[in-house]
Amino acid sequence: MNYEMLVNKENLLTSDYVPESMEEIHEPMGSKLDETYVNRLDKEAYANFKQMQNDALKEGYEIFIDSSYRPYEYQERLFNAIMLEKGIDHATKYVAPPGGSEHQTGLAIDIIFRRNGEMIEEQKEDDPEIMWLFANAHKYGFILRYPKGKEAVTGFNFEPWHFRYVGRVLAQEIYQNGLTLEEYHRQKPARR
Ligand code: DAL
Ligand code: ZN
Repeated sequence: MNYEMLVNKENLLTSDYVPESMEEIHEPMGSKLDETYVNRLDKEAYANFKQMQNDALKEGYEIFIDSSYRPYEYQERLFNAIMLEKGIDHATKYVAPPGGSEHQTGLAIDIIFRRNGEMIEEQKEDDPEIMWLFANAHKYGFILRYPKGKEAVTGFNFEPWHFRYVGRVLAQEIYQNGLTLEEYHRQKPARR
């Protein structure tokens, strides 16, 4: 698995791209997913997520994976549904076009959490669970993929809930240098 892979509006996956090495995962899901959805994630990414989840729990934060792998057709349905509901401007800022979603790589996760027994589905940047992830996710190989202030670089609005597994070494580098995955890939040739 290429954990560095860049998928965005300019770097699209083909409709038949299905990642290897995924496993079915069992997490309490939010209400936004339809009944056809099967939660699956890359095995290495999930093992790292479980460590992160355990360590978050030690701090009193109950985090779960809401949405992980999404097949091309699922993303297509999602994009069309949001476009009809909220218009093309909103859809293009928040939902990747089919082929342009990292969720198709099996390496992206949307976080949901439970607080005082209640599932919280609207994640905000000042939620303590989210702040803990901002400060710690890189230790487990995850990066905040669509940071605030980098909308023009990533092509998407700030998403405090969406994290992407890139492996621990790269996550550390991206975190320390305040990069996005796009910026890392642009700089890469100069480093080698
Ligand atoms: N919300 C992200 C950009 C996606 O649809 O993949
Ligand atoms: Zn996402």
